[in-house]
Parts: sequence; structure tokens; C-alpha cells
Amino acid sequence: MIRIGIVGTGGMARAHAGAFNRIRGCRLVAACDVVKERVEAFGREHGIPNVYTDFGEMLAGAEMDAISNVTPDGFHAPISLKAIRKGLHVLCEKPLAVNYPDAKKMATAAKRKGVINMVNLSYRNSAAIHRAHTLVRQEAIGRIMHVEASYLQEWLGAMDWKALSRAPAMLWRLSTEHGSKGVLGDIGVHILDFASYPVGDIRSVNCRLKTFPKVKGNRIGEYKLDANDSAIVTVEFANGAIGAIHTTRWATGQSNSLRLRIYGDKGAIIVDLDRSYTELQLLRARARAGRQWETVKCRPTPSIYQRFIKSIRTGANDQPDFARGAAVQKVMDACFESDRKGRPVDV
Ligand SMILES: NC(=O)c1ccc[n+]([C@@H]2O[C@H](COP(=O)([O-])OP(=O)(O)OC[C@H]3O[C@@H](n4cnc5c(N)ncnc54)[C@H](O)[C@@H]3O)[C@@H](O)[C@H]2O)c1
Repeated sequence: MIRIGIVGTGGMARAHAGAFNRIRGCRLVAACDVVKERVEAFGREHGIPNVYTDFGEMLAGAEMDAISNVTPDGFHAPISLKAIRKGLHVLCEKPLAVNYPDAKKMATAAKRKGVINMVNLSYRNSAAIHRAHTLVRQEAIGRIMHVEASYLQEWLGAMDWKALSRAPAMLWRLSTEHGSKGVLGDIGVHILDFASYPVGDIRSVNCRLKTFPKVKGNRIGEYKLDANDSAIVTVEFANGAIGAIHTTRWATGQSNSLRLRIYGDKGAIIVDLDRSYTELQLLRARARAGRQWETVKCRPTPSIYQRFIKSIRTGANDQPDFARGAAVQKVMDACFESDRKGRPVDV
């Protein structure tokens, strides 16, 4: 039996608890949140016997093999590093950290200690992206020239700002002082991973970030609303392809839309998660003359939660691991630098 502790029992933790409770051979034994009532309710809801309001006490008191770190972004590094030091396996939410040096520290510490480490880049749960990765490696669409990728959400446009003062779960996402890296760190991290997983490493970025005014004084209580909410990044990949990757929280009409188009000199691939997680559109090199797009059906892939547990059982660390999380973080750091300097930056 693999014993798991969940740290941070807010919105996303429910997905973690639900997923782990469905996997045979693992058990949720402890939960921790700084808000007492929240962690107690979470424990009752998910059948977790031991609850804590302090992570140090959880580490000292609960017998665990692994933790799932579902705290806000700014706590990912300190909490994961403490768990690693104790020899626990760690599944950490994305972004892995708030900057590359911290992310690298986490990857190095996990490797040195020999613990299983994965970052919840959850769109890797799509079978279609794994098939796209394989097809590109098989040169099914030839040499990659051009890439277009977007991850669009609409929630800022739909926001009731008066009600928001009672919803810190949304406010920390809008405030750099509270550890947020804005839309780029929140969902940009997904689309940067989603595009570069099949296409290959990103060599340079030219990034424009924008924070639109939201409320008078751009502040709600202790939360200064200064984190970016729209990001447009043009990239060059190590293989020479170029791409446009963009993300926003202002895409009115798109609740959660994620799409990737890869164009090679012989064919093309479209992965559109609004349509399907298990199908992609493929224009094969040999069919290009007739422009016959085919729908490729892919067998569902195990979830990151299942792969994390399997990695603990087998000792073989699956992807995306902390090293991958750190690599994406390096691209994001370059994006911030590029926006600041107003010019392209090498990763
Ligand atoms: N992979 C995905 O698709 C996905 C989706 C949503 C959120 N997330 C990530 O999950 C993480 C949590 O997001 P959320 O939406 O659940 O946020 P949330 O604000 O709803 O929950 C965070 C919880 O952590 C608790 N917390 C804060 N500091 C803590 C500490 N030091 N120790 C223990 N608990 C602490 C808070 O009290 C809160 O209950 C974020 O990093 C976010 O980026 C990932």
C-alpha cells in the first residue's frame, strides 16, 4: 500500500484526492492546509484519517511514502524540498516553482535523494499529444517549420469583482506578491510544455505580457492585481522551426480551450483538446497532394496520478519529471526577461 499525504486542500486538491482514491493499492493517509476548517472538511469528504495545519507537523507525525503538493505556486519549492529531504516521493502541482533556480534546486534534490518526482502538467493526460510526439519523431510530417499553440480562458471577463474579495483562491492568482506568475505561470506553463513536448526544445523567445486594469486602484484588500493576464510569445525551436504561442484569461467565449497545430514540409498535425483528448487530425506526407486529413484515434493514456503511483512501484520515474518542469520554467524565465527588455532572449 502506497501512503499519500495531500498538502493544500483547495480547489485542485479535490481532483488529486478523487484520482488517488480510485487507484488500487494507494491510500490517502494525511492532509494538510493552513485553514483548519478546510482541511477538516476535506479529510471528512475524502476519508483521510489524519489532518494537519502545519506541514512540519505532518512530516513528523504522519507515516507517508509520498506527498501531493497542491499548494499555491509560491509554496511548491519549500514544501517539496522538505518532503524530498525526508525521502518522500513528490507529485507537485505546476508551475514547478516560481523561477528556474528554485525549480532546478528541486530537480537536483529529487535526483540526488533518488525519490520519484513528477510535475502535474495535466494535459499530458491527453493520448493525442503522445501520438503527436511519436508522429513527429517518425518524421510523419517531415521537417517542422511552423507551430501555432494557444491556451485560452475567459474567467477575467466573467468576473464579479465585488464577490472576489471573498475568494482568495482566485485573488492569489492575480498578485505577484502572493507568488503568482500570472497567466504565463498558471496556464502558459501548460501550453509551453504542450507545444515543445512533440516539437522539441525552445531555443529563444520574444514575449509580450500585458496586465489589464481590473478594479479601481487595481487592488482588492491585501491583493495587488499586478500579475500578467495575457501573453504572446514567438519562439524559435532548437530544430529551427518557429512558432506563435499565446495564452490569456480574457478570451471571452472560451472557458478552457487548448489547441496545437504543427506544420511540417510534408504534412501537418492538429491537436485540439476542445474536440478530443484521444483524437488528432493528421495530414500525412503521402496524402498531402489530395489534402486528405485523417482522424487518428489514440488509446487513452494513464493519468499522471496513475503514472506517479506506477513510478513509485517500479522505481522508473515517468514523465513529466522535475527536470522537465525546470526546463519549462527556464523558458518562462526567459519570457519574463524578454518582456522586460523588449527583445528576443535565448533560453
Ligand atoms: N494541473 C492543473 O491543471 C491545475 C489546475 C488548477 C490548479 N493547479 C495548481 O494547483 C495549485 C493549487 O491551486 P488551487 O486552485 O487548488 O488553489 P486554492 O487556492 O484553491 O488552494 C490552495 C490551498 O492551499 C492552502 N495553502 C496555502 N499555503 C499553504 C501551506 N503553506 N501549507 C498548506 N496549505 C497551504 C490554501 O489554504 C488553500 O486551501 C496551484 O499551484 C495551481 O497552479 C493546477
